[in-house]
Amino acid sequence: MDEGISSINPTDLRGILNYVPRFLGQTFVISLDGAIIENENLPNLLLDIAVLRSLQINVVIAHGISKQLTELSASRGIKISNADGSGVTDKPTLDLAIRASSRASHQILEALTQSGLKCAITNSVRSTPIGILKGVDFLRSGKVDRIDAEFLSHLISKSIIPIIQPIGFDRNGHTYRINSDLLAIEVAFALKATKTIFITEQDGLEIEGEFAHQLSVEALEAKLTASSGNSGIVEPYLSKAKHALAGVKGGIARIHILNGNIHDGLIREVFSNEGVGTLVYGNEYQQIRQARRSDVARIYNLTSGSVEKEELARRSIESIEHDIKNFYVYEIDGNLVGCVLITRFEDEASTAEINALFVHPLHQRQGIGSKLTNFACLKLKELGVERVLALSTQSVGFFETITGFKESGSDSLPKSRQASYVSQNRKSKIFSKTL
Ligand SMILES: CC(C)(COP(=O)(O)OP(=O)(O)OC[C@H]1O[C@@H](n2cnc3c(N)ncnc32)[C@H](O)[C@@H]1OP(=O)(O)O)[C@@H](O)C(=O)NCCC(=O)NCCS
Repeated sequence: MDEGISSINPTDLRGILNYVPRFLGQTFVISLDGAIIENENLPNLLLDIAVLRSLQINVVIAHGISKQLTELSASRGIKISNADGSGVTDKPTLDLAIRASSRASHQILEALTQSGLKCAITNSVRSTPIGILKGVDFLRSGKVDRIDAEFLSHLISKSIIPIIQPIGFDRNGHTYRINSDLLAIEVAFALKATKTIFITEQDGLEIEGEFAHQLSVEALEAKLTASSGNSGIVEPYLSKAKHALAGVKGGIARIHILNGNIHDGLIREVFSNEGVGTLVYGNEYQQIRQARRSDVARIYNLTSGSVEKEELARRSIESIEHDIKNFYVYEIDGNLVGCVLITRFEDEASTAEINALFVHPLHQRQGIGSKLTNFACLKLKELGVERVLALSTQSVGFFETITGFKESGSDSLPKSRQASYVSQNRKSKIFSKTL
């Protein structure tokens, strides 16, 4: 039996199938760093891309060439002015970049062909020169003027994966070198892609020496603009961090940065809540905000019907007021339509609970409950929490099937919670999820 197939665990497959409706017909831009194209794991990576395609996810591949360019420079003894397209590109550097680029594209083409996928190297990027910045002429380094989205969409509609080189042409056919991180973001904007996935040699983003698993766009922006002037993010992470920020702010829902050397890494990143790299997330949660004192009565009124039906535990105005900073609310046009409460435990800092999850009946089944739950999990993860609990009497199926929680016994509750669980006597089922 084929080694790749025999290693698939059927329960993984069930997990993947949960994501299929969510990603159906969406476009992912996958950006391969030059170093990854040279890597022996490339065929596995492209096999993962074949899996995405088979699940009706549209894929576009952009790639870099820094490593190839640096190696060509060394082997030919030609000095280059810049390797990654963000600095000055002089004529000899551009010549080597064109060579490096066709070699890299060819390697991708070769590996995609081995995986039985149709693909095409495109000239879909119109470029303009970066020009002169602070007195420095960037010569043949270009920025993106326009992406030919129509052309790319046409290829995608014919099940052809477009391969986009870090090289663009101006209106007169002059060639420019483009930074591949910038390129991937611009392509994603043009195609309204929901994800950009940077595949690199690093495990993800490192901030102040620590690996960041998930970052909200606000957290990343705060790190990058830290008032000290030293953001704590240095190369080789800085370019990815800056472009991830620009991408999410520009409307790409999620940007992933992961290590291309990890076997099955791409699949694990896309089809699991945990992922293997860094996830930068943004506008998906823009309608969720921390509750304010002025929301107390609105939360009380919103949830009271559900309390009567015993879906939610009873909460007085005073207790909502007491916990208000831990409530998050979902607003549509200024109307509060959903809420969730995060509770931490003094005797078990690594565990937290989500309670008072509620979506107004008129707005249910539109993904709001899942967003509130996922948002709460992301927040808690940022706070260092490792395990989230949820207790439910009537939404068992929601936690189990929709949000990936697993039923567990009352011994999974922290000691401080066990007493109230017994005294409330609601006989709620207990669910838990590892973050
Ligand atoms: C549970 C709740 C928050 C879900 O909100 P939502 O915005 O409708 O959730 P989503 O749109 O993200 O997900 C909807 C999916 O969950 C499923 N779902 C919702 N409640 C469910 C339940 N009790 N049992 C099984 N599945 C359920 C829906 O069938 C739907 O599935 P579909 O996408 O296959 O159609 C909402 O139903 C609610 O407020 N319920 C009353 C309060 C409650 O029970 N809260 C939980 C206690 S902490």
